[in-house]
Amino acid sequence: MSRVLKAVFPVAGLGTRFLPATKASPKEMLNIVDKPLIQYAAEEAEAAGIDQLVFITGRSKRSIEDHFDKAYELEAELESAGKTKLLQIVQNVLPADVSCIYLRQATALGLGHAVLCAKPVVGNEPFVVILADDLVDSEPGVVAQMIEQFERHQCSILAVEEVPREETHKYGIVATQPGPNGELRVTSIVEKPAPQDAPSNLAVIGRYLLTPRIFDKLENIGRGAGGEIQLTDGIAALLKDEPVIAYPFHGKRYDCGSKLGYLEATVELGLAHDDLGADFKSYLKRMAASGVCD
Ligand code: G1P
Repeated sequence: MSRVLKAVFPVAGLGTRFLPATKASPKEMLNIVDKPLIQYAAEEAEAAGIDQLVFITGRSKRSIEDHFDKAYELEAELESAGKTKLLQIVQNVLPADVSCIYLRQATALGLGHAVLCAKPVVGNEPFVVILADDLVDSEPGVVAQMIEQFERHQCSILAVEEVPREETHKYGIVATQPGPNGELRVTSIVEKPAPQDAPSNLAVIGRYLLTPRIFDKLENIGRGAGGEIQLTDGIAALLKDEPVIAYPFHGKRYDCGSKLGYLEATVELGLAHDDLGADFKSYLKRMAASGVCD
């Protein structure tokens, strides 16, 4: 099968959990320390050798296009002020060999529908889907880890991690059995089951590497949970025809679609930040010593 060169970013969701922050600005533009979530996701894809970023956008998402576009005025001002470090930061938002494609999802019919919108651009190639609100801190990034798995197994790969039983209703949950080469073969997948109905506590996180056959499946499944066309249901149909592997990735995931996960990411990436980390750590120590956490 051909190489994985395209990443699809479904960014048309309403981001209601962060209102009013997301009233006029997409949740993927929420900032962690000094970068929006969507840039962390794009950098993870680029580091894995992906050179086409396909954004499935909707209304009020213009700022994502602006973020990855050239900023002539800003660059000219930074240049004339001699602020070369900042100029580099701005210019490196999108490496020269990476291109962006924007497709509009006119009606928000669900994640499966968003992925299906990418069919004319992705064509007959394997591709990755990245949900930017799952931020994963790892080296190498999860997408690179998944591409390595794909090169070994030549089939669709889902990034998974164990979650507490009481949280299965937030995720696509898989059942697995060991495959011939030690891999975890997915035997079933279900969208957001109640704990008592969940086939396991192994949750799919927002990283999928999919074969193009998923498009046929998405075209033919009806609406599922919440009246939406679910990617999970497409994958359930796909695994009847070809192997799908669950891959327990290496790294720490932050659920930045929730306020608590977002704050955790902010604190931990703040502590790890090159320029800011040391000062931020002393601040947190002072806060803890003041008894505010007791
Ligand atoms: C989506 C998927 C779900 C997956 C999750 C990962 O749900 O539908 O299967 O486990 O992303 O973050 P959402 O978080 O958009 O409700």
